[in-house]
Amino acid sequence: MSQNTAIRFYDLHPPQTDHIGETIEGLSKKQKQLPPKLFYDEKGSKIFDQICEQPEYYPTRTEIEILRQNAREIAEYCSDNNLLLELGSGASKKIRILLETLRPNSYVGVDISKEFLIESTTRLAKDYPWLDVHATCADFSHDLDLTHCPDNQRILAFFPGSSIGNFTPTEAQLFLGRLHKLIGPGGLLLIGVDLVKDIDILNAAYNDSHGVTARFNLNLLERLNFELDANFDLERFQHYAFFNPHHSRIEMHLVSRDEQTVHLGPHRFDFRKGESIHTENSYKYTIDGFEEMARNTGWRPVKFWTDDAQKFSIQLFSTE
Ligand code: AVJ
Repeated sequence: MSQNTAIRFYDLHPPQTDHIGETIEGLSKKQKQLPPKLFYDEKGSKIFDQICEQPEYYPTRTEIEILRQNAREIAEYCSDNNLLLELGSGASKKIRILLETLRPNSYVGVDISKEFLIESTTRLAKDYPWLDVHATCADFSHDLDLTHCPDNQRILAFFPGSSIGNFTPTEAQLFLGRLHKLIGPGGLLLIGVDLVKDIDILNAAYNDSHGVTARFNLNLLERLNFELDANFDLERFQHYAFFNPHHSRIEMHLVSRDEQTVHLGPHRFDFRKGESIHTENSYKYTIDGFEEMARNTGWRPVKFWTDDAQKFSIQLFSTE
């Protein structure tokens, strides 16, 4: 058994996202919008960690509870798959539960943020010297190849946090289809999916009483001020999040409290009073609805686990 505490790092050089281009494009639309990935600068990532600790924000806590309670059974279903591939590396609490119960040979963490990825995988390599640790810097929502990964091992892909909920159902299907091809024969997918539930619980989760989610949302404007030379007045925008039952999604917006003009470098954007910037969607699924979508892209449902209140699910699919 190897006693290797170093990681093997591969840089697939994900194209640097063109923040200024995407921002101008989004703010020029009839329904102004900004991509949710802009939330996660250093400050935004810290605020997101605080969101996860709010009593109203059930997903993180519930997913960890489901993993803890069912780790043994999950491990039994996954015992033939010795390569654990984590999409969006860094959910360290969750991956540690899996690593300790599954004891795979190899771990491949994939993340778009290079520094963060190296930091989190290095910690794993130190803590689990028996584990062969790889880190791949890539934008897995666009392109990911595993040619550099250890081959001849069946892959278990782990995609926690209901991050799939940020995709529209059409995008989610495209993603699941590509993942199915990538993972190949004998492959498994373990995915965290947030569930449709009582609207008050959903709304509260995105309107926590300490205003942390509001700060998370507004931090986007602060980032544009710092990074793109914009002059958003944070006092003049209001966090607004609600469940849209027609689309089965939480929508987050920033609503202009007045008629105002905002400058971003040489560009200017006019806001009517009450006009919003749509900053995020977070889709909620039923178990059946998600299974159906996965089936349409070639995946076979194997088993799912939920908490007692059926707030959140962890679902297991097989490529065959
Ligand atoms: C990280 C996309 C799963 O949708 O619940 C939390 C992000 N936004 N509160 C979610 C988020 C506001 C989160 N995801």
